[in-house]
Amino acid sequence: MLAKEENERLTRVGPGTPMGALLRRYWWPVGFAEHVTSRPQRLTRLGQELVLYRGADGRPGLMDLRCAHRGVALDYGRVEGECLRCPYHGWLYDRAGRCVEQPAEPQESTFKDRIRLGAYAVQEYGGLVFGYLGPDPAPLLPRYDVMSRDDGIKTLQVRRANCNWLQVAENITDITHLAWLHGATFPKYGARALSYDWERTAWGAKNIMRVEGVEQEHVSCYVFPSLNRFPLAPIDGELVRAFIYRVPVDDVSSLVYMIRFRPGAARALQTLGELPAELGVYRPLETDWWGIDFFDQDRMAVEQQGVVSNREAEHLSASDRGIILLRQMLQEGLAAVEAGRDPLGVVRDEASNRVIVFDTHADMFGEPAGRAA
Ligand code: FES
Ligand SMILES: [Fe+2]
Repeated sequence: MLAKEENERLTRVGPGTPMGALLRRYWWPVGFAEHVTSRPQRLTRLGQELVLYRGADGRPGLMDLRCAHRGVALDYGRVEGECLRCPYHGWLYDRAGRCVEQPAEPQESTFKDRIRLGAYAVQEYGGLVFGYLGPDPAPLLPRYDVMSRDDGIKTLQVRRANCNWLQVAENITDITHLAWLHGATFPKYGARALSYDWERTAWGAKNIMRVEGVEQEHVSCYVFPSLNRFPLAPIDGELVRAFIYRVPVDDVSSLVYMIRFRPGAARALQTLGELPAELGVYRPLETDWWGIDFFDQDRMAVEQQGVVSNREAEHLSASDRGIILLRQMLQEGLAAVEAGRDPLGVVRDEASNRVIVFDTHADMFGEPAGRAA
């Protein structure tokens, strides 16, 4: 269990909170590259309202949502060159958030020079746009293997989880749910005893799972603070490589960006967009143990702990080592930031960021084992 104060420390993500400070040390997806256009769009990340657009030079811009004048949301404005103009009185902001025009002010006024909106570093990578809301200098954007590959078919999809980010993150290291929540999907280990080990890595931790009666191991990776890399069932004999960014939106909602990649002769980047995800509404599947389609099972499990799980009431058991490990790593991350150090997985060295390869493989799908680099 966690005391109420400790639960709040780990779950609150807004500006000025300890966890908000830790999570701001990482780049987070802010949208699909294909969907970022000259039409500004609003979004929330880490409890901050933002506006995202693409300038005439093709580069994205990310800044605070509300105009510094009288607070109108800038997604109702319009893009002019690389700048964004507020629709109310026409103040114009450049991509760095500087106010460069205030049309109603006297010509000699220098008032605009003292106005600046928060503006944030943005990068496009692997079909996604990433934003960095933390202190300067921004670290490098990690080149995770699945994200950097283009020698096959890659699909990008996002789905909301109507709950706090920590439940969504803890679902990664909650290993034993695989045999129960997804038991009907993976008959090889449904309702069987699982055993597992965790090994810490430079990016998080690696999980080696064994299933009673199954010879091979299932290996997946937790990438600090809330990402994971794992194999999915093979298509045409090739394991599908999956990577998930579990993104804190605000204290009560999260976005789950799922990237699937399968190497092969055919090459494509498919942006599948956002799937519906209403709280309490899960796609039914009659043949499943729980009557819920596989792709909504995890969402049900994390949402139905409550919008913010009351961890004072939980009873962690011996098989919850993964949850304890994740919380311990978060505590270490909080301590690192408080001490002025980079937390785990922040990359500043180009040499270690060529491509970050994760060791994952599986034999749980009822097909010959495949290895996925
Ligand atoms: S509110 Fe934006 S220019 Fe006045
Ligand atoms: Fe799951």
